[in-house]
Amino acid sequence: MCIMNLKSTIVCANITLKVGEKMAQYTDIENVREIYEYLKADIPVFYYDTIDSTNNEAKRFYEKHKNDGVDTPTLFVADHQSAGKGRLGRTFYSPSSTGLYMSLMIKADSLAENTVCMTTAVAVCVTDALKTLCDIDPKIKWVNDIYVENKKVCGILCEALTNPDTQKIDSIIIGIGVNIETKDFPKELSDIATSVGQALNRNELCAKITDNIIDMMKTIEDRKFIEKYKSRSLVLNKEITYFENGIEKSATAIDIDNNGGLVIKTESGVKTLSTGEISVRVK
Ligand code: BTN
Repeated sequence: MCIMNLKSTIVCANITLKVGEKMAQYTDIENVREIYEYLKADIPVFYYDTIDSTNNEAKRFYEKHKNDGVDTPTLFVADHQSAGKGRLGRTFYSPSSTGLYMSLMIKADSLAENTVCMTTAVAVCVTDALKTLCDIDPKIKWVNDIYVENKKVCGILCEALTNPDTQKIDSIIIGIGVNIETKDFPKELSDIATSVGQALNRNELCAKITDNIIDMMKTIEDRKFIEKYKSRSLVLNKEITYFENGIEKSATAIDIDNNGGLVIKTESGVKTLSTGEISVRVK
């Protein structure tokens, strides 16, 4: 692994990051070292004791470095998030020491037309990592939630960064939050959230998920992950409810298409829900 003079400078994958204002937030070098011990990929890693949101930090990094030609994936990890974000404007509870909060920023051109199914592919990468490292049977609730025994243990939030000049998607931030040992959830979450609940090294899980995503990106075109996604789905062949124009509707989930869309059978025929701003509930 390519780390030189870690205390003053990181040289990794052709990027030199000098310790300055930004790196002063880089408070736990031991965690970075441990992630590097497990990580196969040669990419920069930033670790924060506390931060608002690793997705936000990745965005700030992008704004600062977008003209520097940084084209490797870059990983941002925090022990605690003070403003962890979920989909649909929700928050993600991110207490210290008990969860994994990570964002992997990747260049969109490495994905070509495949950004549309990124969340779907990442859900498979996360469940693969959990199945490798602990003895659980994680399921996927379309589109971005990982469940264990009918409660959520992980959420995924992918955000696209658009180049204002070209109006094209330039980078994707893949944010992943896993409840590993969190026990005391706020009241509103206590019925729906749980933790992996097994001895699991956060840094090893972080490295495994990152390597899985980087490997998956090389073959995302073939859509092989869709079969795994289906086999782990919590919603397929179930009655579901979803909201359309603010109205709650019922349907049966019958398939996942090659773009990660949920194919449903409704009273008025078969249609596909895309991975945008839709939340689905299993009845
Ligand atoms: C969801 O449940 O809707 C998605 C949750 C995503 C949470 C992760 S934690 C790391 C990254 N930083 C954030 O602010 N959100 C994501």
